Amino acid sequence: MHTPENETTARDGADAGRDERHARHVGDLGTSPGFQRLRDEIIARAAPTKGERVLDVGAGSTGLLALAAAPDAEHVTAVDFSPAVCRMLEQRAKDLQLENVSVLVGDARKLPLPDNSVDVALSNYCLHHVNDTEKLVALGELARVLKPGGRLVFGDMMFRVGIRTSRDRRVVAKFALGMLRRGPAGVVRLLRNVVKTFVAPSEMPASVEWWDQALRSSGFTDVKVEALEHEGGIAYARWPS
Ligand SMILES: C[S@@+](CC[C@H](N)C(=O)[O-])C[C@H]1O[C@@H](n2cnc3c(N)ncnc32)[C@H](O)[C@@H]1O
Repeated sequence: MHTPENETTARDGADAGRDERHARHVGDLGTSPGFQRLRDEIIARAAPTKGERVLDVGAGSTGLLALAAAPDAEHVTAVDFSPAVCRMLEQRAKDLQLENVSVLVGDARKLPLPDNSVDVALSNYCLHHVNDTEKLVALGELARVLKPGGRLVFGDMMFRVGIRTSRDRRVVAKFALGMLRRGPAGVVRLLRNVVKTFVAPSEMPASVEWWDQALRSSGFTDVKVEALEHEGGIAYARWPS
């Protein structure tokens, strides 16, 4: 696993135990049936082929997309800003004897890859962890590393925390009801989430409309962003040839 020298990540200063717990939690997400359906949908839309270089941003400890893309691709680079996530993913790729997978500690906002070096960029449920300004920086980075004609496909939460649109209201209400059904522990968790959302948000999803506009204004073409029936969505775009 390559860790760039003097790397600064959002997890700097976080203790190793916390990062290990984060990596295990991310691993659990990657094995959920919902994420596996999303993986199949993203891989089908991206359709990597032999000879193509693939990037997975925020790859997670299970390497949900990276490891699924590896058998079809020339090479896969998995990037995640958590060193513990990267260690687990590297071990997983080794266990599966996937020799065309490299794992790099790195940030979506400053990708550790050269310009024009990627044919297919993938990501799942990573970009809602950065704010809207940083999402645009991440799109700029994806544009920088994609080759002309390169494809970008990502899944993420796609709604706004609020009550402005019917989709936002439906997703927020479903989340709140799910918590309340868990009884007192759920009420406490819900209150904690409400406070966190306003004081120190770690989840900052954007809507389908926002992503559509952001991709177009970042210079991508063939943009198609779709809401799924749950809180998620899938975006497809191409960097111009
Ligand atoms: C919800 S998990 C999804 C992991 C994986 N893509 C999957 O679908 O199972 C989000 C991942 O993004 C990583 N992450 C969050 N912000 C990041 C950033 N700015 N740059 C790189 N990785 C990031 C986290 O460490 C975590 O592994």
